[in-house]
Amino acid sequence: MQSHRELIIEPVGLNVDKLPKPLNWLEIFGNDHPVELEIGCGKGTFLLHQALARPDTNFFGIEWARWYWRYASDRLRRHNCLNSRMVRAEANFFLTEFISPATISVLHIYFPDPWPKKRHNKRRLIQPKFMPLVQRILTPGGRLQVVTDHQDYAEQIQSVVKESPLKIVDYSRPGSAAEGEFVGTNFEHKYKHEGRPFYALAAVKPA
Ligand SMILES: C[S@@+](CC[C@H](N)C(=O)[O-])C[C@H]1O[C@@H](n2cnc3c(N)ncnc32)[C@H](O)[C@@H]1O
Repeated sequence: MQSHRELIIEPVGLNVDKLPKPLNWLEIFGNDHPVELEIGCGKGTFLLHQALARPDTNFFGIEWARWYWRYASDRLRRHNCLNSRMVRAEANFFLTEFISPATISVLHIYFPDPWPKKRHNKRRLIQPKFMPLVQRILTPGGRLQVVTDHQDYAEQIQSVVKESPLKIVDYSRPGSAAEGEFVGTNFEHKYKHEGRPFYALAAVKPA
């Protein structure tokens, strides 16, 4: 994908090769506000709306696709969302290498790639080996929020989370979601037009 204008990523877009391990949130954001993480931000619509609506919370996005990372970083910068940062990285790697235990208040994952073919299911993000990473980075009482349009993946997510120490609770729609939306991302808008069903799950780490 290409953009007709130059994308300026700094100061929102971070270069993973230049980041310290582990990250120090105070140094990254210049304050000690709670940090919420989104994996797979796409064009950054969720982060943008949340960062604008909740200036006293810090938002950190992890996106694997270089073009989306650049696009979303530029978009957040243009809207002066200095309570947001984005990195281009693979999430399992990044959570393991860069994020200190018990530092994330909410982990958001919206419309993760479903890898629908049976032989590709092992590429899914949310699977048993992912949950110890989630359990490690969440603060006590911290929350995981997931939405997908894919029934088989939704069933897998439900069973993987049930097997983990997290406790399933009622899903709460982010304040930026419009009437009838689960969260309000680009993929939700697109899938809504196609009439697909949505499956939402929330779970908390016991305090
Ligand atoms: C289906 S899109 C959803 C984008 C956005 N959340 C939305 O709802 O519009 C999934 C996104 O997750 C990213 N992604 C997939 N696997 C990832 C991983 N392991 N680490 C980081 N990003 C990942 C993809 O590059 C893609 O942008």
